[in-house]
Amino acid sequence: MSTEASALGATPGDSHSSGGAPASEGLFSPSAAVSTAGTSVIATRGLTKRFGSLVAVDSIDLDVRRGDIYGFLGANGSGKTTTVRMLLGLVLATSGQIELLGQRMPKATGRVLPKVGALVEGPGSYGHLSGRTNLLLLDGSGPGASRRNRGARVDEALTHVGLGGVGRRPVKAYSLGMRQRLGLAAALLRSPELLILDEPTNGLDPQGIQEIRQLLLHLHANGTTIFLSSHLLAEVEQLCTRVGVLDRGRLIVQSQLADLQKPTGRIVVRTPDIAAARSLLDGHVEHQDGDRLLIRALDPAELNARLVQRGVRVSELGLERRSLEQTVLELTGPSADRVEPS
Ligand SMILES: Nc1ncnc2c1ncn2[C@@H]1O[C@H](COP(=O)(O)OP(=O)(O)OP(=O)(O)O)[C@@H](O)[C@H]1O
Ligand SMILES: [Mg+2]
Repeated sequence: MSTEASALGATPGDSHSSGGAPASEGLFSPSAAVSTAGTSVIATRGLTKRFGSLVAVDSIDLDVRRGDIYGFLGANGSGKTTTVRMLLGLVLATSGQIELLGQRMPKATGRVLPKVGALVEGPGSYGHLSGRTNLLLLDGSGPGASRRNRGARVDEALTHVGLGGVGRRPVKAYSLGMRQRLGLAAALLRSPELLILDEPTNGLDPQGIQEIRQLLLHLHANGTTIFLSSHLLAEVEQLCTRVGVLDRGRLIVQSQLADLQKPTGRIVVRTPDIAAARSLLDGHVEHQDGDRLLIRALDPAELNARLVQRGVRVSELGLERRSLEQTVLELTGPSADRVEPS
């Protein structure tokens, strides 16, 4: 498994060499810098959490940089929520170190968390109060938020997540999707530099997922760095710039998404004249699937010219790319929450 990850150049702590300051202050010395491009926003070293004999998170080195939308992918039970909880100081790590916005956690919790918006699995609230009152109380309970514009900020956050018109309805009468939206609104209250979201689209319908995706893209365009966990490959593929994949507690891939989706070097050709194409490209056809051929060792422009010159009709021609799903499924084992009979 790890050899394949290495072959992809995508093992944890992958090197992206372009300039920028290494995470030299605080946790990591320049020689051991986890982050070499951009400013480090989340950096962990050997982060581990054990519950008795179970290693829920196994020595992970996260490297999230300013401006990333980082997708933290993992099957059920792979350790996503446990990692998020450790980042936010909600549970103590068994071993390892964490730096958030350049500061050591949990030591700097009081200074760092006001700049971080967070949504963790099953956001809590007072069921008998409205969403708005919950947010007003939440904002008032933490340090550093201005009281003067509290109401306006709460209304803006509710509008952002599509709950602007929900009125006085108590949270206990909210649907699952509405509770999730309220949790997101809570994360947005203080215009955070960094959003840490544990499965933000959990419980939302396709329209809701699309709305939240647009909201996150909007926040990102306005300078917010986003770290989100998900078990949905498609969600991460559509939204994220950088990906980390967790498999039973281990970070088996950490890479820019574009690097994982690099062309494989093969060309996909679809043609209704399959027999003619095969005989023309003899020796280069690696695989046939219906009217689709996988061709290797040819330049796409030359291949196209060759086919067209011989009167072979081409309905599609392009570089083959690996999907994130292929990469992840090849590298990961079965879902960690499968419980087999003994
Ligand atoms: N408080 C706890 N006590 C004991 N085991 C725990 C505790 N919290 C989590 N675990 C275990 O740690 C492992 C990782 O759980 P975690 O909730 O972090 O996974 P996850 O990736 O968030 O899963 P999901 O996608 O289902 O939310 C699981 O095996 C889980 O049973
Ligand atoms: Mg979880």
